[in-house]
Amino acid sequence: MEKTPWAFDRPITSPFAQPRGLAGRLAGRLMLLTNEQCELVELLDVQPGDHVLEVGYGPGKLVRMLEPGPAARICGVDPSREMRDQAARPYRGDGRVDLRLGTADATGFDDGSFDKAVSVNNVALWPDLGAGVRELHRVLKPGGMAVIAWHGGSLPGRIAGKLRLAEDKLAMIQTAMGELFEDVERHELKALTAFAAPGPSRRQCP
Ligand SMILES: C[S@@+](CC[C@H](N)C(=O)[O-])C[C@H]1O[C@@H](n2cnc3c(N)ncnc32)[C@H](O)[C@@H]1O
Repeated sequence: MEKTPWAFDRPITSPFAQPRGLAGRLAGRLMLLTNEQCELVELLDVQPGDHVLEVGYGPGKLVRMLEPGPAARICGVDPSREMRDQAARPYRGDGRVDLRLGTADATGFDDGSFDKAVSVNNVALWPDLGAGVRELHRVLKPGGMAVIAWHGGSLPGRIAGKLRLAEDKLAMIQTAMGELFEDVERHELKALTAFAAPGPSRRQCP
């Protein structure tokens, strides 16, 4: 049985939220065309040698944008086999890109593995917001950065505007991150509202 996401009062079974079968594969193709993630790449600011984790990669739009860049390793988890197959197809035999099945609260990666950990357009689907944020925090290296983004932003199109979360839900994301990360900055990108937080022990000694 589907779990109820923390941001909704019932399970969300649309093929965009739970991509399965033909409908899921078609939803994946549409997401590749429509989901706007260019500014998110800028916000992530991936540096040469960075190890990056994406949770909920879907059809792999962000992975495709990051892959030509300087990251040493790009990993991801998503619970959908259809999305895993679609996103991983261009990278068979490429050890730099490692896309697995998994969820935000159980990525299966070791503590302190990543410089950047990012979630885009799936945080509201997590069954347990706190568990997902704790997992991002756990897998980050000291000084790493977590970014959680959801549809919205300053100039959303029709679909992103409809999917925008209410302010009280956005505040819950910021609060959950604030419980583990020192600073949480809110960014209104064009079609995404993003929260960015530096990872553990980034603070400089005085
Ligand atoms: C709307 S799609 C977004 C895909 C992609 N990030 C994008 O922006 O194009 C939502 C994705 O979140 C995944 N998802 C659903 N529940 C999840 C969870 N608990 N943890 C991680 N990903 C999840 C779905 O399988 C789906 O691929």
